[in-house]
Amino acid sequence: MADTRESWQTRLGFILAAVGSAVGLGNIWRFPWMASENGGAAFLVVYLGIVLLVGVPGLLGEFVIGRRSKRNPVGALSSLSDSKGWSAFGHVFVVTAVLLLSFYSVVGGWILRYFGASFTGAYFGNPGAYFSSINYGFEAVAFHVLFLFLTAAIVGFGVKGGIERATKVMMPAIVVLLVGLAAWGLTLDGASAGLAFYLSPDLGYLQTHFLDILPAAAGQALFTLSLGAGTMVTYASYLGEDRSLPVDGTFIAGLNTLVGVLAGFVVFPILFALGSGAGQPGAGAVFVSLAGAFAALPYGQVVAVVFFGVVALAALSSSISMLEIPVSFLVDEYGVSRRKATVAFTGLFLVTGSVNALSAQVFGFVAGTLVNLLLTGGLAGFLLFTGWVLGTDAVAELRSGAGDLGQRLATPWLYAVGVVLPLFLVFTLLSSLLPLLGVQLGTGAVVALAVGVVVVCGVTLRRPQSVL
Ligand code: PHE
Repeated sequence: MADTRESWQTRLGFILAAVGSAVGLGNIWRFPWMASENGGAAFLVVYLGIVLLVGVPGLLGEFVIGRRSKRNPVGALSSLSDSKGWSAFGHVFVVTAVLLLSFYSVVGGWILRYFGASFTGAYFGNPGAYFSSINYGFEAVAFHVLFLFLTAAIVGFGVKGGIERATKVMMPAIVVLLVGLAAWGLTLDGASAGLAFYLSPDLGYLQTHFLDILPAAAGQALFTLSLGAGTMVTYASYLGEDRSLPVDGTFIAGLNTLVGVLAGFVVFPILFALGSGAGQPGAGAVFVSLAGAFAALPYGQVVAVVFFGVVALAALSSSISMLEIPVSFLVDEYGVSRRKATVAFTGLFLVTGSVNALSAQVFGFVAGTLVNLLLTGGLAGFLLFTGWVLGTDAVAELRSGAGDLGQRLATPWLYAVGVVLPLFLVFTLLSSLLPLLGVQLGTGAVVALAVGVVVVCGVTLRRPQSVL
């Protein structure tokens, strides 16, 4: 194990890096994709509810585990619990991180591609056809490799100053560009239909499709907050005791949600104005709508170059946080050097990413259903650990540096993360996993199963000093 551990250089470093991890393609690309396939406004309502009620307390759970252990997710679970079961479970996060970056770098490649094509306006003529011609295939592999190398270069050299500085410029730039694009998009003919799709929930649809919307909305809420993969555990492991975790967590979640919601204001009015309607372009929703917008805007090419440049930075500050999980695992647990660990995993991603870049089916499954399942299960595991294994220690950790509010919130928070939220997450997980496995159960049976799973995990894995 490495004996000296880095920590954030400035007080702002952690916030910036965590915001950089959270704000990325999840907000700008995945959110409109998921919303467009799951009823628009109906999805938005469920998603926002989950961000607030599960995301924020869940973020605090990951922070507590990371700051308490000062380790990567695998080391954190094993060192804090002394249990082989938890240590084995920790390895799931390495797998999750590998799967995440395997498709993320493909989308990152698309962004780089669009950045380059903005200089010539190549996609201006027919945005839909352009996206279909570049999304999967050998060129997609090439751009995925380029994006991967950029990610690896940053992680390998540990350019923290660079990341911190880039994030500071990037965040305001993204917000300003999105606000500007949204304002313009709303003036288009046909925009109001897009706005209605995005903002007025169809309650009938919500009722009949609730069990389809739920796993997608939960998965997206966790994805956008970088939860359930161990990123926030890892980032908080470089953190001092003086930060207020509740304040930092709320700020990160708030800013991140703002960017996601803004992206919807850009994508849907423009998509409807272009006549594509929702659901049509699937994973290409943002590319098609934005490309259409840039083609029609005065100085569209300049706006496009800036926009895709900024989004590429946002994507990189997220992808490095994905690569950081397996790299910190090898560095902490096996004493491998940071450079070697980065090279080893980059080699792996060259292969796994290429599979995603070549097959729309693999990509759709990994980036959609599989990621939703892994993040939901992963966060349920972290929260059970926080509630049942750390127990009173988690309360003490949350209180450290958190002032008055933290003192009062800590105990109710512990019951939420130890009982209520795992129940919700396991229910969500089962309701999407069971049908995939060909098992059909009624809601009551799924609830009973979820209660069973949570209780069995808690009871068998708890430590004596746990309060739950
Ligand atoms: N939150 C990132 C985004 O929105 C993606 C991410 C997920 C990063 C999980 C790290 C871990 O793009």
